Amino acid sequence: MPIGSITRGTTGTNRLRRVDRWIAAHPVLRRADDPLVVDLGYGASATTPLELHQRLRKVRPDVEVVGIEIDPERVRLASLSARPGVSFRLGGFEVPLDGGRRPAVIRALNVLRQYDESQVDASWRLMTSRLQPGGVLVEGTCNEVGRVASWVDVTEAGPQTFTVALHLASLEAPSVVAERLPKALIHRNVPGERVHDLLVDLDRQWAIAAPLSVYGPVQRWIATVEGLRAAGWPVRHGRTRWRLGELTLPWSAVAPRP
Ligand SMILES: C[S@@+](CC[C@H](N)C(=O)[O-])C[C@H]1O[C@@H](n2cnc3c(N)ncnc32)[C@H](O)[C@@H]1O
Repeated sequence: MPIGSITRGTTGTNRLRRVDRWIAAHPVLRRADDPLVVDLGYGASATTPLELHQRLRKVRPDVEVVGIEIDPERVRLASLSARPGVSFRLGGFEVPLDGGRRPAVIRALNVLRQYDESQVDASWRLMTSRLQPGGVLVEGTCNEVGRVASWVDVTEAGPQTFTVALHLASLEAPSVVAERLPKALIHRNVPGERVHDLLVDLDRQWAIAAPLSVYGPVQRWIATVEGLRAAGWPVRHGRTRWRLGELTLPWSAVAPRP
């Protein structure tokens, strides 16, 4: 029996573009001997595995994407869209694959959202136990149109980084991501928790950087992220990622307090 439960299948065209872009730049995919990527819980249509394949092919022409869904009817439907490099199969968090193959990347977006917070750890452990050595699970949430997203990179050693990715041109305040935090954090946006402090500081820096709006939202975001770093947050990467509306921190900077 696949491990997990069937949940709502909401998905959409271009919804996961920010995560596709993150995976495309991921060193794990670029250096993998077997560039196998799983899109776990792809939902009511084949859209997101097909888009993921299309985008990853540009950096790894030999990439293979396997869409895994726990709902047999969704697998039957998606299988009609199978093509070279993209296949579909029934399964759950145990990530079943033929011939003992292991994925370099598992992407699980908007899947754990419908589970209980207490189930996050076990599902992370199960999925990461299926990865190739050095592989990564990208687990997170986004809004319906993919303009507000956040995710955690998890390896067999546990959660590594937390990333926020926002559509800057339509952004009023970065704390809008509060509604789209990964399951491990969404109930922790309360005073006393690190992720709450982060969102408060992020909005503060966004407000301080308001005068830079005359140069456009990207310049304002870059100043916001630089302000966060100056305030002591261990921000990762540099302008190349920030100009995409991203912000990445080590997991330890936002991890829930015990
Ligand atoms: C809201 S949809 C997300 C679709 C797509 N990932 C997206 O973000 O647009 C969640 C899907 O995950 C599937 N799902 C839930 N738990 C699962 C599990 N343990 N293994 C595989 N699929 C699962 C559900 O059946 C549902 O189709």
